[in-house]
Amino acid sequence: MHGSRPREPTGRVGRDVGLSKRDIVAGTSNFFDGLGSESDSTGGGRSSVRDLLYDAERRLTAAGVPSPQADAAWLMAWVLNVPRNRLFLHDEPSPAQRMEFEKAVARRLSRVPLQHITGRAAFRRIDVAVGPGVFIPRPETELIAEAGVRVLREADGGTAVDLCSGSGAVGLSLALEAPGSTVYLVELDDAAVEWTRRNVTDFGRDLAAAGSRVEVLHADAGDVAEAGNPLSSLASCVDVVVANPPYIPDAMVPREVEVRDHDPAVALFGGDDGLDVVRRIARTAAVLLRPGGLLAVEHADVQGPDAPGGGVVGVLRSLTLDEELASMVPGVPGAPVFGSVTDRLDLAGLPRFTLATRLAG
Ligand SMILES: C[S@@+](CC[C@H](N)C(=O)[O-])C[C@H]1O[C@@H](n2cnc3c(N)ncnc32)[C@H](O)[C@@H]1O
Repeated sequence: MHGSRPREPTGRVGRDVGLSKRDIVAGTSNFFDGLGSESDSTGGGRSSVRDLLYDAERRLTAAGVPSPQADAAWLMAWVLNVPRNRLFLHDEPSPAQRMEFEKAVARRLSRVPLQHITGRAAFRRIDVAVGPGVFIPRPETELIAEAGVRVLREADGGTAVDLCSGSGAVGLSLALEAPGSTVYLVELDDAAVEWTRRNVTDFGRDLAAAGSRVEVLHADAGDVAEAGNPLSSLASCVDVVVANPPYIPDAMVPREVEVRDHDPAVALFGGDDGLDVVRRIARTAAVLLRPGGLLAVEHADVQGPDAPGGGVVGVLRSLTLDEELASMVPGVPGAPVFGSVTDRLDLAGLPRFTLATRLAG
């Protein structure tokens, strides 16, 4: 418990971070089943993959690491450079591998995120490079990517904008899964945008094979569409805008050490109610989206329609074409910007993202 500290939103804050949905669905709780009992251990040797994993899991559990069994297995797979489901076909690790595994476990025991140790985070069909300075993509964010991919595929050569792109996991997924698309990735933070660029470069060949184009913009998602800014020429032309913005209220303290100490603050906190960046993103999307285009925004489970003011649904429903917006896009001043505003649940059944369609104005 955290004494008087407010509860953080669940979701991005400390679930099975970075493990893909597939891993969660497959379940890891019986990972060591069928591998012999503890009494099979080699006693003094303790050097087989099984024994090393068992020992690591025990220590990670004692240290309160959230997913000890899975993490031990991921670290071993990384050290041995084999897929996780081939771990137990591997010969006894060499002394150098044992030492490397021990170092990795020690880092995890000190609550360095698994993905910072391995340097990779799984997301949909890809895994991206991550490390200090960039937010680790989470499984629940795969849902807004899914919404974006669907729209882009229908558009056949459509255009998308990923606001608050971080590692680029969402925008890259869109571009790779919707061949022939053009995707703009917008990231404000100096350190994070280096990771965006790195991942876009790393996936260059796959993007070319998909016939998709990706452009990285080091810019503020809130004003990137304003006159004279890089995306102003796309006004009313974009098929889909996706965003996983910072959305934790400033006063909240993430419970998970990994989040608190390793995810950048600029990626987490979004003002008093957490929705400051969401409000600005809504205006950017209002300018960029074509009539009928889709906005998909992730939010905390406490920012669903039952939140005070209706959460993100409330923000999007209440946005009208004010003087500033009317100067950038056609439409009747005062008209609502978004229609079909609906909130969606994540795989844990919690309110997690909002979808809205740009009205014709
Ligand atoms: C929660 S992270 C999401 C990153 C990535 N989209 C993902 O899902 O893994 C939010 C990202 O938004 C960036 N960010 C924060 N404020 C921003 C702004 N005003 N404009 C653009 N990016 C911003 C942060 O630096 C961070 O990389």
